[in-house]
Amino acid sequence: MVEHKRIGILTSGGDCAGLNPAIRAVVYHAVGTYNWEVLGICQATYGLMERPPQIVKLEIEKIDPLLMSGGTILGTTNKGDPFAFPISDGTLRDRSEEIIDGYHLLGLDALIGIGGDGSLAILRKLAQQGNLNLIGIPKTIDNDVNYTELSIGFDTAVKIATEALDRLHFTAASHSRIIILEVMGRDAGHIALNAGIAGGADVILIPEIPYKIDNICNYIRKRQNLGKNYSLIVVAEAVRTEVGETVTQDDLSGKSRFGGIGHYLADKVYLCTGAETRVTVLGHIQRGGVPSATDRLVASAFGVAAVDLIAEEKYDQMVTWQNLQVVSVPIAEAIAKYRAVDFNDTLLRTARSMGICLGD
Ligand code: F6P
Repeated sequence: MVEHKRIGILTSGGDCAGLNPAIRAVVYHAVGTYNWEVLGICQATYGLMERPPQIVKLEIEKIDPLLMSGGTILGTTNKGDPFAFPISDGTLRDRSEEIIDGYHLLGLDALIGIGGDGSLAILRKLAQQGNLNLIGIPKTIDNDVNYTELSIGFDTAVKIATEALDRLHFTAASHSRIIILEVMGRDAGHIALNAGIAGGADVILIPEIPYKIDNICNYIRKRQNLGKNYSLIVVAEAVRTEVGETVTQDDLSGKSRFGGIGHYLADKVYLCTGAETRVTVLGHIQRGGVPSATDRLVASAFGVAAVDLIAEEKYDQMVTWQNLQVVSVPIAEAIAKYRAVDFNDTLLRTARSMGICLGD
């Protein structure tokens, strides 16, 4: 017999498709199976800093539409590290104790944090400091959380990038152009590699593999000589220039983010091939929209497994997807380093064997 519990759930970091299905699964299992209470915490850890803490009681009757909805009903943020939180006078303040107090004020027995490696690292630090019972669920379109083959949001992002390539084939062919698709993924090339193969790209550039412009140009010229009048290049946003410089864009708030490698490559490729070149930057479209079937399944399985870990009182664990099974690993191990594309990756070998140019 599992004793009654009141659990909290929050989403933290960049949103993605599949967060709401995970929330739905947690509510179904926690309320439906165990008869627990589930409190949704608004705007990630911000909700626990507020007084009263900003929460919404999650009930089975209201959660069905969550299965097919994008984003997160709880809101999220990828700003404001609570240990160095920016306040209005321009200084940074440690607000971690406010969050910990918020957890205790709500009388929570456990907290499920859905986040990427950055968010999970912050949540774990809070949990260690404040004795919070934490379970992590990995989410990120970048799919770079260690020890899990899939994070929530990745499959939908790949699907969207693949569909973009499907569309670009026709317009590129009609105009005999080279089209470069710049995709997200931070320092990991998973989206570019997966969508590149699935969408029939000719060139795939990922941050893990340094490239030479000459190799790309020779490859495209070879295609031109074979009568192939167009080429598609997929590039991950964190790919550097040929000489290893990071390409970023600053906004007015002073924040610097990846962006611009597609345009850098377009100039280089145009100069050596003479072909008209265009760039599509897919951006946040990869994070939005209806979750794919796989994301709904992974999110549901993660949500259920997270609740079961709480029932077993096995805390400080992150649920993971390994060989079609949900298992768990210590959060500390999952956040110790990010999961880049491995040099022995099956898909990397697949791309090479199919004659796709990886620029090296
Ligand atoms: O980590 C997810 C991600 O979408 C990255 O792929 C991308 O670089 C970043 O977030 C974009 O962040 P923001 O929403 O702050 O622009």
